[in-house]
Amino acid sequence: MGLDSFLHSSVSHPVLRAWAAVPNTLSATSLMYPLFITSDRDGKEEIAAMPGVFRFGVNRLKEALDPLIKSGLRSVILFGVPREEHAVKDDVGSAAEDPSGPVILAIQLLRSLYPSLLVACDVCLCPYTSHGHCGVLNADGTINNPASIKRLAEISVQYARAGCHVIAPSDMMDCRIGAIKEGLHEAGLAGNVAVMAYSAKFASGFYGPFRDAACSAPAAGDRKRYQLPPASRGLARRAVIRDAKEGADIVMVKPGYPYLDLVRDTKEVLPDLPIAVYQVSGEYAMLWHAASNNVFTLRVGVMEATEACLRAGASIIITYYTPQILGWLNEAKL
Ligand code: PBG
Repeated sequence: MGLDSFLHSSVSHPVLRAWAAVPNTLSATSLMYPLFITSDRDGKEEIAAMPGVFRFGVNRLKEALDPLIKSGLRSVILFGVPREEHAVKDDVGSAAEDPSGPVILAIQLLRSLYPSLLVACDVCLCPYTSHGHCGVLNADGTINNPASIKRLAEISVQYARAGCHVIAPSDMMDCRIGAIKEGLHEAGLAGNVAVMAYSAKFASGFYGPFRDAACSAPAAGDRKRYQLPPASRGLARRAVIRDAKEGADIVMVKPGYPYLDLVRDTKEVLPDLPIAVYQVSGEYAMLWHAASNNVFTLRVGVMEATEACLRAGASIIITYYTPQILGWLNEAKL
């Protein structure tokens, strides 16, 4: 089976079909909103390093999202935040697909509350492993790649069964896109579920606030053995091409602002795939603090940084500023 021959997954939802046409102006359809879902079901906690961003328990999602859906929200990406008191972290991240864990419950709830919302899920082991790395480790601390991609495929199938439309693996293990596509295919789900690959994902200092938010910092070491070195253009190009060959429906560049040249490179090497840009937690914080210190207004800084992603060639912008941008877009229409 040629995994790159799957096209049904890329057209299986109206939002996915809209992304197939590259927009040149910012609209609600371009925005994907990241949501941290805590296992504390009634919880709503502000993230210290990301003012204005919260972890929501599943029972708090409706009050948070109802107004955004009214403002035009089209898609979200879910990150599970298992609390120690609710989930045991182990070597292989077993809690990731707990049927009563935060991600599966949130998928089911969002699908039933908002029938036209596109629901994507980040798939990674780091929030669920005792060691905090994104894959399964060998005894000497190196990555066990075959065991890692098998786990990622298993978790993806469970999220897809729960109703997730887009699987977004952020782990950076080799060959996981092919393994996930095969897993979805064997489960009979490959035609209904798209895969958005975190492809050109760099070992970046801009993820600091996220690791606080998702409680996913590695217990020892760093992620340089599987995330890309910031100065490498060639590895980024190889990674996006590889993931496309393995069947990715969408490829991602992450972070955004310091890496927009690679968005343009990706557009050149893969003109036919939608590109997502992740404006990450450090970019969020940077813009926030700049605006708080009167460098510019938040609106001017955020709109410029976000529109630059579209100019570079992105169709999808994953941003914690989605609520504000939806509000500004709606104001502009008045
Ligand atoms: C998990 C993951 C990370 C981010 C998304 N998924 C952190 C990391 O790789 O260390 C970062 C997102 C952000 O900073 O907003 N692998």
